[in-house]
Amino acid sequence: MAIEPGLRIVDHDADGIDTAFRKDVLAGLSQRQKAVPARWFYDETGSELFEAITELPEYYPTRAETEILERHGADFAAAIGAGRAVIEFGSGSSTKTPLLLRAIRPAAYVPIDISGDFLRQSAAALAADFPDLPVFPVEADFTKPVDLPAQVADLPKVGFFPGSTIGNLVPPSAVDLLRSMRRTLGEGTMLLIGMDRLKDEATLLAAYDDPAGVTAAFNLNLIDRINRELDGDMAREAFVHEARWNDALGRIEMHLKAIRDVRFAVAGRSFAMCAGETIHTENSHKYDLRSAAMLLLAAGWTPRAWHTDSANRFYVALAEATEPRSAP
Ligand code: AVI
Repeated sequence: MAIEPGLRIVDHDADGIDTAFRKDVLAGLSQRQKAVPARWFYDETGSELFEAITELPEYYPTRAETEILERHGADFAAAIGAGRAVIEFGSGSSTKTPLLLRAIRPAAYVPIDISGDFLRQSAAALAADFPDLPVFPVEADFTKPVDLPAQVADLPKVGFFPGSTIGNLVPPSAVDLLRSMRRTLGEGTMLLIGMDRLKDEATLLAAYDDPAGVTAAFNLNLIDRINRELDGDMAREAFVHEARWNDALGRIEMHLKAIRDVRFAVAGRSFAMCAGETIHTENSHKYDLRSAAMLLLAAGWTPRAWHTDSANRFYVALAEATEPRSAP
C-alpha cells in the first residue's frame, strides 16, 4: 500500500481512544517495575517541550549534532551524492534537516512522524524553504516497516535518523528498528544516524535534569496525557521527575517517582504505588565507538564514516546497507 501524504494510520477504537497507548500504559503499569514506553511522551505538548529541551544550555546533543551537520556537509555530499530521496525517521520539527538537504541536494524528502499535526506544520515550513523539493509527509509509527509514497519508489534513498533517538531503545529493539529501517529503505541504501557518546556522569545527569525544570515538565506531561486520553485520575503533584545514570547498561533513565503512597485509576483499572516507587519512562543509551558499530552491524548496516563535534560529545555515522554474511 502506498501511503498518500496526510493519511492518519494510528489505530483508534470506537471511543476515539488510542488503543496502542491504552494497551502499553495498562500493561506497563501492571508490571512490578512500572514502565511506559518513551514514545508516548510526544503528544502536542510533549513535542513542544522536547523542542524546548533541545534549546537548554545543559542539553548538548542537539547543538553537538548540528555542529557536525554544519561542518561535514561537503563530506556527506561526496559520500551520499545528489538525487536521492531523504527519508527522515521521527522528523519532529525537522530543524536539522535543512543542513542535510542543502548539503546533498536530494530529489525528494519524506519526513515520517507519529505526531501528525506537528509533522504537517513542520513539513509545510520546510517545503516553503525548499520550493523545488517535493515533500511527502507520512504520519506513521516508524518502529515498524513503513510503506513509502509511490512517488519515491524508484529513487535511491538515504535514511536520516538524527538526535540519538536510537538510544531511546534497548539494544534488541534498537537492532529491530535498524533492521526495519533497512526494509523500509530497500537495498543499496545508506543511513545517516546520530548517536550520543558516553561521557562523564555529571554532564549526562545535567542534560536530563535541568535546573529550569523543562525535562521534569516533559516527563510529568505523560501523567496529563494519561489522565486526558485514558480517563485517568493520577495526581500529578504526587510524582516528581528523576534522572539516573545506569552505569552497567550505559544509559540515562528517566522515572516518575511517587513521593507519597498513591492510588489511581486508568481506563477503568485501579493501581497503587508506595512512596519511592517509580514508573520508568525513558532510557537514553550512550555509546562508545565499539558499541555503536556493533549495534549498526548487528542490523545489517556497515559504518563507513564516523563524524564527531569539536568537543567529542556526539557521533554522526554514515552506514551502508550490507548483504547478510553466511561466513563467520
Ligand atoms: C529524543 N531523545 C533522543 C531524547 C534523549 O536525549 O534521549 C529525549 C529526551 N529525554 C529527555 N531529554 C531528552
